[in-house]
Amino acid sequence: MTEGVDQAAGAIDLRRRGVRVLSDAGESALRVWRRVVAAWQRSIQLRVVTATLALSVAVVSLLGVTVMRQVTDGLLSQQKDDALAEAAAGIDIAQGQLDGRDDVEPAASPQLLRQIVQDLTNRGGPEGPDIVLTRDVGSPVISRTVRAGSVPEDLQTRVEGRPSLFWTYTSISYEPAPDGGDEPKPEPGLAVGGQLRTPSGIQYGLYYLFPLTEQQQTLDLVRAAVATAGLVLVLLLGAIAGLVTRQVVTPVRFAARIAERFSSGRLSERMLVRGRDDIARLATSFNQMATSLQRQIGQLEELSRVQQQFVSDVSHELRTPLTTVRMAADVLHESRDEFDPVVGRSAELLQTQLDRFESLLGDLLEISRFDAGVAVLSAEPVDVRDLVHSVTEAAAPLAARKGSGVTVDQPPAPCVAEVDARRIERVLRNLVVNAIEHGEGHDIQVRVAVDEGAVAVTVRDHGVGLKPGESSLVFHRFWRADPARARTTGGTGLGLAIALEDARLHGGWLQAWGEPGSGSQFRLTVPLCSGDDLTSSPIPLVPEDAAHDVGLSGIGRPYRRVSAPDTEPTAVSRHG
Ligand SMILES: Nc1ncnc2c1ncn2[C@@H]1O[C@H](COP(=O)(O)OP(=O)(O)O)[C@@H](O)[C@H]1O
Ligand SMILES: [Mg+2]
Repeated sequence: MTEGVDQAAGAIDLRRRGVRVLSDAGESALRVWRRVVAAWQRSIQLRVVTATLALSVAVVSLLGVTVMRQVTDGLLSQQKDDALAEAAAGIDIAQGQLDGRDDVEPAASPQLLRQIVQDLTNRGGPEGPDIVLTRDVGSPVISRTVRAGSVPEDLQTRVEGRPSLFWTYTSISYEPAPDGGDEPKPEPGLAVGGQLRTPSGIQYGLYYLFPLTEQQQTLDLVRAAVATAGLVLVLLLGAIAGLVTRQVVTPVRFAARIAERFSSGRLSERMLVRGRDDIARLATSFNQMATSLQRQIGQLEELSRVQQQFVSDVSHELRTPLTTVRMAADVLHESRDEFDPVVGRSAELLQTQLDRFESLLGDLLEISRFDAGVAVLSAEPVDVRDLVHSVTEAAAPLAARKGSGVTVDQPPAPCVAEVDARRIERVLRNLVVNAIEHGEGHDIQVRVAVDEGAVAVTVRDHGVGLKPGESSLVFHRFWRADPARARTTGGTGLGLAIALEDARLHGGWLQAWGEPGSGSQFRLTVPLCSGDDLTSSPIPLVPEDAAHDVGLSGIGRPYRRVSAPDTEPTAVSRHG
């Protein structure tokens, strides 16, 4: 019983292993096939060589068949003429013998027939043709060891039908030797036949069987020679095609490589111009194009550098007068109670607008520092929860004014990452203030999470949200969904642009998700160790309560989005 079970288990195991082997074989075959297809699509040389091989095989086969047909015809036609003459002569002689022997009527005696066949055989000599004499009644008379079946049926029919000479190719078979040797091999041959007729009208068929062994050997030899020559020719043509295309393809590949390097930013790459052929012309035009592009890109870079410098200079220049204006305004502001109400109100307005002016100037200077590439990261281990705490603390008055509560969901253990505290705090402040400003009085959730490689902070609001496409636009400088929207804290429109630069300086991601009416969620992810690459974020970008994710599946469980948006840090790279 157990043995049976063991056997069955063994069989199943074997079958499984068989299936695995089969699927392995299928997979590797598929892999090879894919590689072949890829090589075919990538290499002109391969395609040209293959096409040349295919075409030359067709041409060489055609040539070979024609040559073989001509050689065969040439070789056999002489042989056929001789055979026909010999057979005609033999038939004449035999007919003469029959005509002269009226006495054996009504049917020629077997002895006479045997005699006739013997005579004709002797006439041909030991290497001569075999002879078969057929008659209506009784077995055929045969010379030597040939088999009567060597005479094809249709030749017999034709000979019986008309008193004329007919011929056809056949295969001649022989009886084995009487001492019981091997069955002799049938040989190719030529069969010629004609009628014999006794004066009283009895009809016989006389057939000559000429072996064509020698001719066959010669033909085999010629065929082998033609086939070898054809194969060598095809291979040579393939090799020539390969060499010739390589001459063209190599410089083209070289050009492609140079173009790739050029497009990857190495603008001083140039092609080597050799000679004056088409490739040289290609190289010359490519080099001209590259030079002109390099010049234009250089000009653009210079222009952009000058503009950045201008912005930076203007911001710096504005600082000094602003300081003076500020001091004067402070004086006015302090003594506003002594002025009449209209002037007092003006002093207050002046103060708020100067606040905005100062923060705008600060942001402009900051962004021009990023543009000039002089922004440096002073990273040190910081508990990100502390930063979140101070940001939410500072934003509490604004939140209270807007009627939003800010809740923080964070792990109990410290979330320490190597970051620049000042910059991360600035990013978080901007996110939280934005959420409060655009949150329309709904509550704001801030969430902190950490995994083995990264720490993430998300800021979720339930306000106006973002329209499709806006999740990347928000990071553009001075972009605002609604330029006319009243602002209480006077954002400069540069907040998220600077935040994105700060995130990028950390090697981190800053991404936005939003839907009109469902609010938005901003996610900052930074690596735990500064300089490490990010591959994923501990918190998904799309919040779990997103509008189209709260539907119920068939079994009543809420279903979630399948694709993890973390895998593509789009917003960051798009603004790179
Ligand atoms: N939480 C949010 N919800 C909706 N829209 C937002 C949110 N945060 C930012 N935005 C949009 O992005 C724009 C740019 O934001 P930001 O760069 O911080 O500049 P500012 O806050 O000064 O307008 C905002 O004007 C707003 O239209
Ligand atoms: Mg802002």
